[in-house]
Amino acid sequence: MNITLLFGTETGNSEMLCEDIESEFEGDHDFTISSLADVDPAAMETNTFHVVVCSSYGDGELPASAQPFADKVEKTKPDLTGLRFAIFGLGDSDYETFGEGSHQLADLLVAAGATQIGPRIVHDVQSGDLAEDVAYPWFTERVAEAEAAMEDA
Ligand SMILES: Cc1cc2nc3c(=O)[nH]c(=O)nc-3n(C[C@H](O)[C@H](O)[C@H](O)COP(=O)(O)O)c2cc1C
Repeated sequence: MNITLLFGTETGNSEMLCEDIESEFEGDHDFTISSLADVDPAAMETNTFHVVVCSSYGDGELPASAQPFADKVEKTKPDLTGLRFAIFGLGDSDYETFGEGSHQLADLLVAAGATQIGPRIVHDVQSGDLAEDVAYPWFTERVAEAEAAMEDA
């Protein structure tokens, strides 16, 4: 299937995780990777499954590369009906605002009409788990759900 991996990052961890996902699954799917900063929300295509990886910064805010995307969605109010996405967060439970960046982004996409596939989960840097060990099984499940949903459409 066509999968667009989008990262919202401040220091590169989310981008690295997108690259890891691509390397792990590249034989199975056609991937495109982009920074959210480079995405025009109105041009997001419904025939590709969008998988977003996004951290949190500041006080539960969006990281630098996700903020311009969120601003564009809020300003231009694109109709994202038909767009299917899944979202994986990176965060640190030492912050009271654990995982808020990916939470905000998911809410924004759903409010614009997009359909979220499966649950958002947030990798906690405090857990001691590697982000990819949490993300790979999550990704496999979301892709299966997206394939079923996109076949039915
Ligand atoms: C200054 C600073 C603020 C942060 N704020 C939050 C936060 O509010 N909530 C959270 O869950 N994680 C927070 N984090 C943790 C980051 O989200 C985490 O380190 C993540 O792996 C960074 O990924 P990135 O390199 O893709 O931005 C913060 C980290 C730093 C350094």
